Amino acid sequence: MPPGDLLAEWEGMAVTDGRHLFLEGGAGVEIAAVRGTRDILPGESRLWAWVEEAARRTCARYHYEEIRTPIFELAALFARGIGEVTDIVEKEMYTFVDRGGRELALRPEGTAGVVRAVLEHKLYAGPLPVKLFYVGPMFRYERPQAGRYRQFTQFGVEAFGSADAALDAEIISLGISFLTEVGLKEWELRLNSIGCPVCRGPYRELLRSRLEPLRHELCVSCQQRLDRNPLRVLDCKEEGCRRLTEGIPPIDEYLCPECRRHWESVQEHLNALGIPFRRYPRLVRGLDYYTRTVFELVTIGLGSQDAVLGGGRYDGLAEMMGGPSVPAIGFAAGLDRLLLGLEAAGTLPEPGPEVDLYVARVGDVPQAQVLRLVTELRRQGLRVDMDFLGRSLKTQMKTADRLGAVFTLVVGEGEWERGEVLLRRMSDGSQEVLPREGLAEKVAERLAAAQAIARGEV
Ligand code: HAM
Repeated sequence: MPPGDLLAEWEGMAVTDGRHLFLEGGAGVEIAAVRGTRDILPGESRLWAWVEEAARRTCARYHYEEIRTPIFELAALFARGIGEVTDIVEKEMYTFVDRGGRELALRPEGTAGVVRAVLEHKLYAGPLPVKLFYVGPMFRYERPQAGRYRQFTQFGVEAFGSADAALDAEIISLGISFLTEVGLKEWELRLNSIGCPVCRGPYRELLRSRLEPLRHELCVSCQQRLDRNPLRVLDCKEEGCRRLTEGIPPIDEYLCPECRRHWESVQEHLNALGIPFRRYPRLVRGLDYYTRTVFELVTIGLGSQDAVLGGGRYDGLAEMMGGPSVPAIGFAAGLDRLLLGLEAAGTLPEPGPEVDLYVARVGDVPQAQVLRLVTELRRQGLRVDMDFLGRSLKTQMKTADRLGAVFTLVVGEGEWERGEVLLRRMSDGSQEVLPREGLAEKVAERLAAAQAIARGEV
């Protein structure tokens, strides 16, 4: 407990003793990240930057450009876009009312916001297709477990303005290129067509008529799904429900002629690209906006949260949101899950060196001069760090080693007075005396040469 007089002094404000937060003199709450959220610390954050860089590189190759939409939107956007009776909208949204009385929600996914932006800025009236990507946090109030968080990060792509099956194949190919780029080799592409509202109607009726007599054998969630969205019964994970739906004919046998042609064309394009896939009649996905193609890429070794990437066509969404008819398709990859998958597969990249050069100060060389030298070296584009704690040369050398420095520049009192410093190559301990004059350029040259040798170029 913080002392009482401190509380009195800070009356009415929040005070902390470092671990607890005391609000208005009340009981302390432990300060910790909120359940389902987590901190990405240095080390891990480097892996995140690497994955995001791979996403950007892949998008550049496929000519998809970045869009950044707000993290919160009107709650109604998601209700209308994702569907009123989906798990996301019914149970998982972080909604709140702002001081202006607006009902807002933290975005549970990226597609609805991107469609809103495309309509608001009339991007559909410009060159088509409009090809966009995004990387950012999404929020869902789900039960946290390995690979499932309440704040998680998606990399998503969305393409607007063409209903051509070639675009479906391009999007899927982009997703696979991205997974390949980060070294994920073991994946399975699950593919299905859920048709359009026209062909889905009779199929829904078929499901109802087959499942209604078995209603009481279905799990509680599926009993509700049967009334509201019977297609979702098909992808229930419960063993009992799966057994009950086993004999039901697949949805792709019920497609209208146009949806059937599109479905066949998607498969032909994938075959032509040499992309293996598994037709997966149970795949219907949990968002209401999908039409025709739906797909997921699943990995091995992730347990039940094995879908790293999911998406599909949503040709009716723009119109549903009050815009013109704009056919579209996209996917989103869960980057938290992807990193877990890469870790499980042991294919994460080794951490590289954190600095190129470490500057060690020995004796009474003024700190200000060392800092100036370090700044000059940084201006040369080198990654440099130095000691700020007055530690011994031995400790500073250990730090240089830990950081992976190629060289350490030893600034000793005697040499410094003579206008010289010592450059030590960390790999073999060889040393060279260099004049202070023109030092930054010389060190940069030595470093470039050492790095070329390390890359096997010399
Ligand atoms: P989704 O299937 O809901 O689709 O999410 C896509 C991916 O986000 C999932 O495959 C998973 O990797 C990741 N993900 C979802 N929820 C969580 C969570 N709680 N924790 C960690 N990762 C999670 C969509 O969001 C659609 N907007 C995809 C899309 C884009 N369809 C068309 N365009």
